[in-house]
Amino acid sequence: MGTLYLICDAVPARRNITDVNLTLKGRLGLAVAVRPGVMPLDASAFTRPFWRDKKMSALFEPITLGGLSLPNRIAVSPMCQFSAIEGTVQPFHLAHVGGLMMSGAGVVIMEATATEAIGRISHDCLGLYSDDHEAALTDLVAQVRSYSNGAIGIQLSHAGRRASCRSVRARVLDPTGSEWLTEDEGAWQTCGPSSHGYNPEWHQPEAMDAAAIRRVEGAFVHSAQRADRAGFDLIEIHGAHGYLIHQFLSPVTNHRTDGYGGSLENRMRFALELVAQVRAVWPRNKALGFRMNSTDWHPDGLTLEDAAVLAVELERAGVDYIVMSAGNLAPGCQIPPATPGHQVSYAERMKKAVSIPVMAVGLIATPSLAEEIVSQQSADMVAIGRGMLDNPRWGLHAAAALGVDVPYAHQYIRVRPNNWTGYAIAHPGGKKIVSTQQLDRPKSSSWDRPDIARGAS
Ligand SMILES: Cc1cc2nc3c(=O)[nH]c(=O)nc-3n(C[C@H](O)[C@H](O)[C@H](O)COP(=O)(O)O)c2cc1C
Repeated sequence: MGTLYLICDAVPARRNITDVNLTLKGRLGLAVAVRPGVMPLDASAFTRPFWRDKKMSALFEPITLGGLSLPNRIAVSPMCQFSAIEGTVQPFHLAHVGGLMMSGAGVVIMEATATEAIGRISHDCLGLYSDDHEAALTDLVAQVRSYSNGAIGIQLSHAGRRASCRSVRARVLDPTGSEWLTEDEGAWQTCGPSSHGYNPEWHQPEAMDAAAIRRVEGAFVHSAQRADRAGFDLIEIHGAHGYLIHQFLSPVTNHRTDGYGGSLENRMRFALELVAQVRAVWPRNKALGFRMNSTDWHPDGLTLEDAAVLAVELERAGVDYIVMSAGNLAPGCQIPPATPGHQVSYAERMKKAVSIPVMAVGLIATPSLAEEIVSQQSADMVAIGRGMLDNPRWGLHAAAALGVDVPYAHQYIRVRPNNWTGYAIAHPGGKKIVSTQQLDRPKSSSWDRPDIARGAS
């Protein structure tokens, strides 16, 4: 008796496994054929990620962060936009985040969002510590959900001693001013693990006592609850770049002599307490991440091995993924020149320490580098920052460049590589026509058929 084989050519990459299975079942009538040598039709075909057999792209394989399934390994890295008013999102944010929701990334992570007013870097930063903030973000999430089922996250942050600054917006408007706010500009009292300022000219922070530590931990918890009610799928806690949590972690900025200073164990206490408290209120079917500095690039600072110790403790505390960043702690840091993927080796080291997914970030500008990082298992995911500002369709273009067939929003379907001869002209040098599937082409369409023109079936 002959064997029944399943020809499974096209699987939309931007679906979770359950959706894919449904899609596949729905297409069985068309897709099943008797043909030897492809893939036996058995129960496992419905339960395992069978597109691995196609060896298409590691970057476009699905991944799960905690309870959150993502269709691919691309995240939009959080990026401050300095466009909020009194901490509240504005029309700009809907345009910005709304556009990125159609970037083809598996998840869009919104910018550093302060958990209390004095934790904002500047007057123009987002906040999530009032009912008004929550209502506006709830509205934004609802609006993007009206056209996208993609995952959306938010980074929760506290700037500590690096708060009370002039924003990029303010500095562009008046390039002559200082980096920090003056009294006239509404400067506020900052706080930190110790009373040492970022540098002698900056504001002097107030060293946080036990009550202040409890207050800030509570602020993260309240913001996490607000983020949950607003409909976010993911929270990333900002533990890097010289902001408050990192200020506690690093011996360069933490001069305390109590249980929150001194040894690495003590310096990690604030971060770990805070994570545990957020974890307790953040649903398990969503994702909780932590962005950390892999190294301080400072002779007296955190090392990669310190970061590995922290990563293990974060996993134990319930974090679902970590992002390995670096830089920005203090003026004395010796920052090496940035080269493509210059922080990837940190992620690679961290993958040896933890079993949760590890994200790499930093000058990952091309799809081929992103693919290489994931396929060589240097990191489980990549976060793309400036690449996404430059090209808010970065993920879709990456799919095309890597020959992966992903669905487009119907509004933009006319520029899908299989529907537009101009795609190959606009993106010369890549794999020109990648889609032979026509999953989302209206049957009677008279649109371009560049795939047919090139002889694809
Ligand atoms: C405009 C801008 C704003 C940023 N804001 C944040 C932020 O809010 N939180 C954060 O963790 N990193 C922030 N970063 C750092 C990026 O998330 C990212 O780690 C960095 O830009 C390196 O990645 P890239 O080379 O892909 O841009 C920002 C970077 C840029 C360019």
